[in-house]
Amino acid sequence: MSKKRIGILTSGGDCAGLNAVIRAVVHRADLLDWEVYGIINGTAGLMKEDPEYRKLELKDFDGNMLRRGGTILGTTNKGNPFSYPMPDGTFKDRSDEIIAGAKKLGLEAIIGIGGDGSFAILQKLAAKGGIKLVGIPKTIDNDIGKTETSVGFDTAVAVATEALDRLQPTAASHDRVMILEVMGRDAGHIALSTGIAGGADVILLPEIPYSIDAVAAKIKNVKAKGRNFALVVISEAVKKSDGGSSKMEYADGERRYGGIGYTIGDEIAKATGFETRVTILGHVQRGSAPSYNDRVLASAFGVKAVDLVAEGKFDRMVAWQDRQIVDVAIADAIAAYQEVDLDGTLVHTARALGICLGDK
Ligand code: F6P
Repeated sequence: MSKKRIGILTSGGDCAGLNAVIRAVVHRADLLDWEVYGIINGTAGLMKEDPEYRKLELKDFDGNMLRRGGTILGTTNKGNPFSYPMPDGTFKDRSDEIIAGAKKLGLEAIIGIGGDGSFAILQKLAAKGGIKLVGIPKTIDNDIGKTETSVGFDTAVAVATEALDRLQPTAASHDRVMILEVMGRDAGHIALSTGIAGGADVILLPEIPYSIDAVAAKIKNVKAKGRNFALVVISEAVKKSDGGSSKMEYADGERRYGGIGYTIGDEIAKATGFETRVTILGHVQRGSAPSYNDRVLASAFGVKAVDLVAEGKFDRMVAWQDRQIVDVAIADAIAAYQEVDLDGTLVHTARALGICLGDK
């Protein structure tokens, strides 16, 4: 009898801990005597006439894979297969090619490691093609619903906190206001956790419109009380004071975040008279080796995903809730998109520490 064969793919932006997830899946599957095919570049690998994959063996993972950033399978956060951009500028529904690719490889199920955008696409493909799907949440933004955390978030916060730790001494040496812009497409979780962990004076989140007067008053107050520097953490998705987005158009026509720190840094300098400097952390938050928390989470998620396949439970996403790994409907996780809870513990903690969140 031939072995059960499952596929695994990484989809959307990469983050730390993806290789640790893949490793855990391969280990668990090996104990069950299953084969694992790693699909190259997410669903794009299945779109090929000869689907691109790599057979994953335990021996591939006995080295540094647990510690290595990125994804050995490659990934993409572009090109919805239901409306795929073609070289001639048109858009084509290529979903049938992906479904055919999965069938060609004889995959009994696919484990998709992704964020909410990827899950929406994978779910649609699974429904159309009768593909059995299990999801594993990853995103540095930590905005996927029904799970308290996702692979990659902890590492991103660790990297951003370390950046703030490094900015503090230089801020103090030069009497400056240091601004650190962190990632977080539409949700401010990285900024909030980093700001608390790194002792920021001001944290600006996309969920709370800021007033430059409130920010300036806080910074002036810090200085008036005798401290010669201030630390400000800004989420990339914070809107400008006129309500406009800070997205920049790139050569490929896409609009992406990055740069709001400069706008607000300038406003702070004008409103306070203090010298400001801006650091935009960007993709550094994604490329690090995974933190121990992300390695543990990745390992537990990978094992649980294979167990779900073994139990025949599909269209489910593994999730972390109340110190346990559980599984939830993928649709529920997508629907429960998780912004920063303005009445939640961390917002309360920040305010109670005297951190200005921009509104007062
Ligand atoms: O969603 C994850 C994320 O890292 C966001 O925080 C960021 O805005 C975006 O991806 C960057 O995407 P790209 O890799 O396309 O630059």
